[in-house]
Amino acid sequence: MTTINVISRDGSTKAVTAEPGQSLMELIRDAGFDELLAMCGGCCSCATCHVIVDDAYAAKLPEISEDESDLLDGSEHRVENSRLSCQVAVTPELDGMTVTIAEED
Ligand code: FES
Repeated sequence: MTTINVISRDGSTKAVTAEPGQSLMELIRDAGFDELLAMCGGCCSCATCHVIVDDAYAAKLPEISEDESDLLDGSEHRVENSRLSCQVAVTPELDGMTVTIAEED
């Protein structure tokens, strides 16, 4: 069982349990966080699934692709640990990770 702590834009935190094979975006959306728009449905073309992952887990995530990095460059809110949540598969190593939904651009 992999549990991710999601911090919404209003600052509240909710612990969410992942199903096998889910992306981080699907996990957050399925948990009812409508503020994560994910408009392209996970095709890495919209950047509305922007999240910030906590330092302790950033290195455990799959490496960022050039496409993902280019899209994040278009965000005013990009920080060091920014990721597009549709590009991150939830794996058991991520159990306990905290992610913050980035501000809307
Ligand atoms: S859902 Fe569009 S880039 Fe992630």
